[in-house]
Amino acid sequence: MENSGRRTFLGLCLGGLAAAAAAAAAWPVYRYLSPRSTATTAARVDIPEKDVPEGEAKFFELGGASAVLVRKPGGGLIALSAVCTHMGCIVQWEKDKLDFLCPCHGGHYTAEGAVISGPPPKPLAKLPFTVANGVITVG
Ligand code: FES
Repeated sequence: MENSGRRTFLGLCLGGLAAAAAAAAAWPVYRYLSPRSTATTAARVDIPEKDVPEGEAKFFELGGASAVLVRKPGGGLIALSAVCTHMGCIVQWEKDKLDFLCPCHGGHYTAEGAVISGPPPKPLAKLPFTVANGVITVG
């Protein structure tokens, strides 16, 4: 009887530890993949042109959501929401392919935000921007 009680207690302790370890491991992944939910960032952002070289993407926060600037080879600039239109994960720039990958369900977008493949139902939203005196203003 006493052994059974100890086993139950030990089982509960180990189960609790396992649950706490799983939660601690999953939290950073959740925070990375989920869009910011509060509008604590500026609705307009200035980014120096030199921070977005050809073939690169610059991620930033705009109005509480993740956004990205891309400079295509040849110099063309594109400003997009970085929030996947499927379930809201943050897309990643694939420099070698010059496209975006959503890590949650494998959605692919072109550098212009058009859907290539996967579950996203719509393109990434385009954001307005201007360029003046070496500064890109998005929003
Ligand atoms: S959330 Fe991006 S593909 Fe599902």
